[in-house]
Amino acid sequence: MMNNIKKGIIIVVSGLLLNQTTKAQNKIDLKEVIKTTSTQYARAVNEYKDSTRFPRSTKPDGTLRTVKSDDWCSGFFPASLWLLYDLTKDDFYKKAAIKWSVALEKEQYNTTTHDLGFMMYLPFGAGLNDTKSEAYKQIIIQSAKSLATRFHPNVGVIKSWDYKQYTYPVIIDNMMNLELLFEASKLTGDDTYKQIAIKHADHDMENHFRKDFSSYHVVDYDSLTGKVLRKITNQGFADESAWARGQAWGLYGFTVMYRYTHDKKYLDLANHIADFILNNPNYPKDGIPYWDFNDPKIPDTYRDASAGAVMASALLELKNYVGKEQKERYYKQAEKILSTLSTPEYLASSGNCNFIIKHCVGNWPKGKATGEIDVPINYGDYYYLEAIMRYKKTKK
Ligand code: GLY
Repeated sequence: MMNNIKKGIIIVVSGLLLNQTTKAQNKIDLKEVIKTTSTQYARAVNEYKDSTRFPRSTKPDGTLRTVKSDDWCSGFFPASLWLLYDLTKDDFYKKAAIKWSVALEKEQYNTTTHDLGFMMYLPFGAGLNDTKSEAYKQIIIQSAKSLATRFHPNVGVIKSWDYKQYTYPVIIDNMMNLELLFEASKLTGDDTYKQIAIKHADHDMENHFRKDFSSYHVVDYDSLTGKVLRKITNQGFADESAWARGQAWGLYGFTVMYRYTHDKKYLDLANHIADFILNNPNYPKDGIPYWDFNDPKIPDTYRDASAGAVMASALLELKNYVGKEQKERYYKQAEKILSTLSTPEYLASSGNCNFIIKHCVGNWPKGKATGEIDVPINYGDYYYLEAIMRYKKTKK
């Protein structure tokens, strides 16, 4: 009897200690994180003077890779500067954010890309929020107009790429550009943009997902009939694999769909995607996914910190729409991801070409020379900062 009581006490005490240790391990020193990240970007602003060349990632030799304003990654650097201004309230970042956003303005007329949400809404949406600038408002509206030209009613979706090897391709990433359309409807009172976003999301919901709620990367449609021709990958390990950042884009994208429509079918899908990720046997305990959930080389392959950052940010929004138990689970998971990303293994406090986050995978099938494998990439930084900001708000 006495032995059983002792055993019980030991179990309860070790449970409590374990809980405390997990809490301690998950603790994120927000002050320190903001100091480290803002210092890295202050160095970037001071070193990178030519705002026609946007810092994107690093080359295999460790030097900086920059891109022009028409690249899909051009907006992340200015958008991160706006976030750093929000986090620090230091005008240095606002001034830099304005300078680098101005350099993007002409892309509002770009109709050759579906990435205008990333390129234009992230910086100008944040800028509008901070400055209430009428000019930024007009840029957002014009960008939405340009994006809408890529929607064809007979197919019912926005065309992602004009690459010759596809007929009418739509990638799961495109879910991330729909926020621009919803905001344009809010700013103009014209529902056309919102309706396009809903049609696009409904087609994605129907055609991009497998029974286990993982998603295909590319769905190629017949441009006349709207029939699905094939479901394939471009950046994943295989057509039938679950490319990690694609799963993150889907999770984030359908969470945003619920934010704007309150239609439960989108919330259900976002929850199913979260379950696919969180219950996946190949998902590491520290919260940073391998670049593809089905790379047969796991665990001897690369992590994609950018996918982890997108997941953390998405979960910190999704938790607001669900019941107590799920809320707790999503919050804990986001906290776990952020605490791992905030360790020196993933967070740079010097070097790294002044980027914040290390160990991202851009396009594995392209190979080391051009595929941005195991390097810092600016969207890893952006979604990490966004998640940190969302996390900080939960602490108030
Ligand atoms: N939108 C392309 C990517 O996630 O790499």
